[in-house]
Amino acid sequence: MVLREGRLTKELNVEIRRFTSSLEKDMFLAPYDIRQSIAHAHALEKAGIISTSESKKLVSGLKKLKIKIEKNPAFLSSDADDIHMAIEEKLGKIGEKLHAGRSRNDQVACDMRMYVRDAALSLEAEIEKLQRAIKVADISAGGEKALIPVYTHMQRAQAVTLSTHLGAYRSWLQRDRQRLGQLRKRVNMLPLGSGASAGTGIKLDLEMIASELGFEGIIENPIDAVSSRDYIQEFASIISVFSVHLSRMAEDLIIFSTSEFNFVSLSEEISETSSIMPQKKNPDCMELVRSASSRLCGISSGLMTLMKGLPLSYNRDMQDDKQIYSAAGLACSLARVMAIVMKNITFNKENMEKAAREGFTDAADFAEYLTLKKGIDFRQAHRLTGLLVLDGIAKGYRAIAHLSLDEIKETVPEAEESLYDFIRPENAVQRRLGVKKEEGNE
Ligand code: ARG
Repeated sequence: MVLREGRLTKELNVEIRRFTSSLEKDMFLAPYDIRQSIAHAHALEKAGIISTSESKKLVSGLKKLKIKIEKNPAFLSSDADDIHMAIEEKLGKIGEKLHAGRSRNDQVACDMRMYVRDAALSLEAEIEKLQRAIKVADISAGGEKALIPVYTHMQRAQAVTLSTHLGAYRSWLQRDRQRLGQLRKRVNMLPLGSGASAGTGIKLDLEMIASELGFEGIIENPIDAVSSRDYIQEFASIISVFSVHLSRMAEDLIIFSTSEFNFVSLSEEISETSSIMPQKKNPDCMELVRSASSRLCGISSGLMTLMKGLPLSYNRDMQDDKQIYSAAGLACSLARVMAIVMKNITFNKENMEKAAREGFTDAADFAEYLTLKKGIDFRQAHRLTGLLVLDGIAKGYRAIAHLSLDEIKETVPEAEESLYDFIRPENAVQRRLGVKKEEGNE
């Protein structure tokens, strides 16, 4: 192997090579490495390190290599350390001219930055599609009018609209997309020109390379350029937050599809059954979304611990940052799975609405009625409403609205007939939504 011909006199132990080589895990970097090498050849030509005809030869060799690898990725397999050496070796003799003014340390940093900005953009697009699928599910269910209870502590809290429930998911996803967009901006800085970590004496036109590769700026400090992986850690954290969002959506749907809740039915196309219990229609894909999220959180925390003990600047440990590739792929597939689920879901509106009207979900609205309409201090209003709930439970009622005006007046003499309109879930929901909009908090 060409790299070992100088300082080292013996071949690398086969088992050690197998252990240390990253070639297989690097394959996704091939198109970036080639694009980067083409830009580097242009810069070497401009710096007078290689001639125009050498540069042309390198560029055409790199382009041909790209096509060959696309047709047959196995073509690259060799006993090279990594993708960078494998590509250089496949170029033959002319490849030996390519490495002037760069190190694999700034090279891999550049590949990874190019990869992360692309992968973040793809994930953003998948998330946007998922948001749209949620919106379509909402509209086709008539979500603005459909009532559903919102839960706190997993106990029925108040009635809300299905649109508000589904809208919460869309807001989570909107922030996930924002975070990816911000990351794409931050990551889009060129690390080349840093060499192994101290820079290079070869004057490369970095502005030219940056513009050829679509970078918005140049990383000034060469040690920073080769030693930082914060953009990968950040990408992994954004992915884990996103996956936690999907895991929570999955959890809601799993609970809501039980016969105990029966708020949603998942179509047979996305359900599975049991090998022994013939009646089962299970939400396996949702459970696996939940478990995939644990895997993604694992990758994120793995990258944190990978980096936390490393001294400046480059250390080979960093080679293990390639896990981000499988994380990003898994995140995209989770978004697609969830979008399919959204297209295969039926909301059982009668059951949702029945639950939204029962379980004293009108109690907080009644307490607000006392404060807003009767000027009763909220703490006192809360106490009086609690007493009415107690009375209602004892009588087998399931809502404040089930108590007659006379029964209510025994505890709250100020109460009037108009309270029933005030606390009726459809009215209360719209009033609360209206107030929220006026506050500009939507
Ligand atoms: N495969 C290495 C990585 O991904 C590339 C850089 C290797 N640099 C070195 N000096 N050994 O980090």
